[in-house]
Amino acid sequence: MSAPRLRVAVLASGRGSNLQALIVARDAGALPVDFVVVGSDKANAGALQLAKDAGIPTFTLSAKDFASRRDFDLELFRRLDASGAQVLVLAGFMRIIDGEALSPWVGRMINIHPSLLPKYRGLHTHRRALEAGDTEHGASVHYVTAELDGGPVIAQARIGIQPGDDEAQLAHRLLTFEHQLLPAVLTLMAEQRLDLIAPNRVALDGKLLDAPLQLRNSALVD
Ligand code: GRF
Repeated sequence: MSAPRLRVAVLASGRGSNLQALIVARDAGALPVDFVVVGSDKANAGALQLAKDAGIPTFTLSAKDFASRRDFDLELFRRLDASGAQVLVLAGFMRIIDGEALSPWVGRMINIHPSLLPKYRGLHTHRRALEAGDTEHGASVHYVTAELDGGPVIAQARIGIQPGDDEAQLAHRLLTFEHQLLPAVLTLMAEQRLDLIAPNRVALDGKLLDAPLQLRNSALVD
């Protein structure tokens, strides 16, 4: 009998291209997970429609229905717990989550962020890389902790910044690599090869990483 598949929940606020990349990888047989729920804070998020089209249950929570961020997040995690998810993926979820509410999920919750962390936490990462005159940009998948975009980085994809790149071109070019990076990291989680070693280290196959894994030729390398 084959091992049970990892049960994964995804949160997304926007178009959902990273969610779509995960679904494509699963359908191709490359990602041994079941998506148990997709949640959003935006009723019109493209990600919700993508999930429905793929037969994945969805829910929306609207911030205006809650008195505080903490109340929102408590309900969010109540829903996620009820879904039976073992791992939570933030794929373009544009809300800051209360540190106490997320604490039971530390070690089984990852986020994709469009910068080479620790550079450019927060918003407008492509613009900030261009304004800084960087020659290299990238995306990071990291464990989520109470510190915004500050949890241990598992893996990164790097791209060169070309002369004449603007924010939109850079974001577009990077997205292709995000779509390889996120499924590759989630595959390692599904294979139970990754661990967060508190407070801020990542282990692969039981061995501490000295630096994030790198995406090269569509594969993660040490
Ligand atoms: C991606 O650039 C991701 O890195 C960031 O938000 C964007 C989401 O895009 N966190 P999409 O909704 O997955 O297309």
